[in-house]
Amino acid sequence: MEETENQESVSLQHQQEKNSKKSFKLFFIIPTILLPAIFVTAYLTFIKKPKTESTSQNSKKPISSTISSEELSKHSTKDNCWLAIKGKVYDVTSFINSHPGGETIIEGCGKDATTLFLNRPGGKGPHPPRAQSLLPQYEIGELE
Ligand code: HEM
Repeated sequence: MEETENQESVSLQHQQEKNSKKSFKLFFIIPTILLPAIFVTAYLTFIKKPKTESTSQNSKKPISSTISSEELSKHSTKDNCWLAIKGKVYDVTSFINSHPGGETIIEGCGKDATTLFLNRPGGKGPHPPRAQSLLPQYEIGELE
């Protein structure tokens, strides 16, 4: 009789151990290891997108900041205008429509426009400091 009671208590203990292992899995392993792992994987897959290189044909900023004259010459239109002034290259495509000098700026697209910038057509002389201060926001690199 006593032996049966002992056996029952051993099996009860065994059951309790099993239960505590289960709750360890449920309350420790899942929140501390599995959930962070799922979040990190989701972050890397969906949020942190890999950097893509832009092609040299569009007017986006290139990966390399050194731009050759050949590359510069590919951006010579109103819709895609890069110009170089004093060794720096600017993508002024988005500025053309608001340029106070109108479309005269297109004359400088795709080339070293330093002379044009410093000596505006129509005998207007150099651009005032205000024009100079607009330049940095359009800078995309240096002329090779
Ligand atoms: C390189 C080619 C460019 C040419 C041929 C050119 C030509 C001119 C001309 C002719 C004017 C005088 C407009 C007038 O008063 O009748 C002018 C004004 C102006 N340009 Fe340009 N421009 C060029 C590039 C730029 C760039 C790259 C910027 C700045 C990002 C710029 C900013 C300005 C500004 C702010 C004015 C008004 C200046 C003032 O307050 O009198 N231009 N431009």
